[in-house]
Amino acid sequence: MAEETTPGAPGAESPDPVAALMGKLAMGRAFKSVLFDDSTRTWQVLRYDEVVEVLTDASTYSAQLDRVMPLGTVNRGNLGFMDPPEHNRARALVNQAFTPRTVNELGTRMETITKELLDGLSGRAEFDLIADFAYTLPVITIAELLGVPPEDRVLFHKWAQARASTTSAVTDVLKDENVMAALREQTEYFGEHARTRRANPGDDLLSQLTQAELDGDRLDEEEIANFAGLLLMAGHVTATSVIASAVLALDANPEQAAALRAEPALMPAAIEETIRYYPPLSQAFRVTTRDVELGGEKIPEGQLVVAWLLSANHDERRFTDPQRFDIRRDPNPHIGFSRGVHFCLGAALARLEIRIALEGLYGRFPGLKVLPGVEWHDNLRLIGPRVLPVRTGP
Ligand code: HEM
Repeated sequence: MAEETTPGAPGAESPDPVAALMGKLAMGRAFKSVLFDDSTRTWQVLRYDEVVEVLTDASTYSAQLDRVMPLGTVNRGNLGFMDPPEHNRARALVNQAFTPRTVNELGTRMETITKELLDGLSGRAEFDLIADFAYTLPVITIAELLGVPPEDRVLFHKWAQARASTTSAVTDVLKDENVMAALREQTEYFGEHARTRRANPGDDLLSQLTQAELDGDRLDEEEIANFAGLLLMAGHVTATSVIASAVLALDANPEQAAALRAEPALMPAAIEETIRYYPPLSQAFRVTTRDVELGGEKIPEGQLVVAWLLSANHDERRFTDPQRFDIRRDPNPHIGFSRGVHFCLGAALARLEIRIALEGLYGRFPGLKVLPGVEWHDNLRLIGPRVLPVRTGP
């Protein structure tokens, strides 16, 4: 890939693993739309049209991954692993927490948090954009939405790290002792909070979950814990990544950064382009419920299918010059938030949150520059820097 089209690794002291992965996916796509990977016994779906087909045909491509891998109790109450009609009912429970009105109300709170964080950074010549900013806003927001103390974010970070740093294949993630320990702790933590809320409900999401009914039954503590755990993780790891990836991409493409400075109204489009270019969740997983033909391949029933959002978003059959980071790209039908019934529940919240974060950041530090020393997550199921050193002025 040409250098100017691969934002990341300024200083290039280490090879950019995301660019390497994108290169590998492009080679795969040139060969076939759908590939069987012998080593993991999974079907890798690489082209946009085929990925969309997988995501939008929930009866053929099931999200119940426990059909092929043991998920144990992690599965219970977890929206991400349900199919319709159970999925519709579970999703309706949390939809009310994400209405446009609630999201807009949260906006005011997110602006205050952003301002406080930026005030705390004033006078600092250099800082780690992740630890000192990009992580903190989303994690405080989702913690407050759920109704758990934002100060517990040290714990949340530890749990998220356990998942982001596992190098296990997706089918083996739950064999990783670190991940399991984090999940156990998380379940206990939310179980305890759910018990308190059931007895003494507030107006937070956790309280709503303790009062909600699914198929006539109240959710039990384990279901609530899994539900809350999904929201906590889905709600902050992704948004953190996009805030940081946007800074990285704009830094690597100064002409785009200049266009954005000249026309601030381009910010929402710049965020969409970041989510296209660096979708934080690079893959979605499904299991075939029947023998099916996809992209010219015959996939038998009961197979694990990896739908590559990252590859689809860079498919040259769908996007002109896909390796170019272009904040004026229009239309931009990226699938970084997925498609179909599992389309990201938090998309509106994420868009607003990322916008508040980036506008605040560049408003305060117009000369923000990325320094050498960028580190990406070890496991590229999650695309985004985990360390992003920046300096605030020239
Ligand atoms: C830019 C930030 C975000 C991105 C790119 C993103 C991406 C995604 C993707 C790709 C999926 C679907 C995976 C699949 O099809 O299997 C998803 C689902 C989900 N997301 Fe997000 N997400 C983001 C932010 C958020 C936030 C802020 C929240 C909550 C506050 C959230 C909550 C959820 C939930 C609950 C689901 C499961 C929905 C379902 O299965 O019906 N996400 N997200």
